[in-house]
Amino acid sequence: MIKIQVPATSANIGPGFDSMGLALRLYNRVWMEEHDGIRIAALDDTEVPADENNLIYKTAGFLYELCGKPFSGLSILQENNIPMTRGLGSSSACIVAGLLGANELLDRPLSKSDIVNLAAVLEGHPDNSTPAILGGLTAAVLQESRVYSVKVPISERLKFALFIPDFELKTEVARAALPEQVSHKDAVFNLSRTALMMASLFSGRLENLRVAVEDRLHQPYRIKLIPGAEDIFNLCNQLNAYACCVSGAGPTIMAMVNVTDVSFKERAEAALTTFPQKFHLKMLDCDENGATVSRDEGMAESLNLEETKWG
Ligand code: HSE
Repeated sequence: MIKIQVPATSANIGPGFDSMGLALRLYNRVWMEEHDGIRIAALDDTEVPADENNLIYKTAGFLYELCGKPFSGLSILQENNIPMTRGLGSSSACIVAGLLGANELLDRPLSKSDIVNLAAVLEGHPDNSTPAILGGLTAAVLQESRVYSVKVPISERLKFALFIPDFELKTEVARAALPEQVSHKDAVFNLSRTALMMASLFSGRLENLRVAVEDRLHQPYRIKLIPGAEDIFNLCNQLNAYACCVSGAGPTIMAMVNVTDVSFKERAEAALTTFPQKFHLKMLDCDENGATVSRDEGMAESLNLEETKWG
């Protein structure tokens, strides 16, 4: 089988709405091979669509069609570690897995940059899909079906605290809450901070992050859709995190913490027990490599595909 591993991603990072994102060391894994018909199963207890509405399947089929190759179906096994509809790039991860898997099965007709372009077009914006493929911190612009991007590594002194609530927030809903127009002043407020954020994360000028993370384009509207978000922002301030922002379209909240602050998790978890809204905390490092594809013949043998409980 082909094995694809795709990292979680956090888009926007405060001011960089639809343009900046970073990859995190939390991975979805997908195994795929050609098959007559659809066979889809989750290796964990996540419920995934087991028909042609499955996003990995749909995206892989799309690539076969784009390349003019006959598509008779796939066997897909999914290990889902990225929480769904939480602002951590789970749908980007499916799109990237579908494209990379199908590309490998077709003997790689597409280059990596073709995949970056196609993933952004399918996703609609490039700030999750680009770091999911390239890893690290990326700035990306999608223009006329092409992504113009730069990937840079992030300061090794940073760790990311992800406060993941037990409810979902659909990206469409979080986007519908945004105003159609913003003032020139707010646009300048954000673009100056986006530039500062990118340069500061890259160079390690961590003292800039508290100002660089501020945003006036999306968070003020979205926070109202995330019960408990303000408590998390206040907590991160009290615990001296460098910065705190809504991850992607939410509802997860992400804080940036110094790697030497080893008690952050314990102190934050103690406070979380007193909050009315439940948040699960994950401490993650940045992933610098992005998605990977490999052959994994052992998987089919170890699982015995004929006996697998397909969805
Ligand atoms: N930039 C996007 C948004 C990320 O904030 O809506 C969600 O996929």
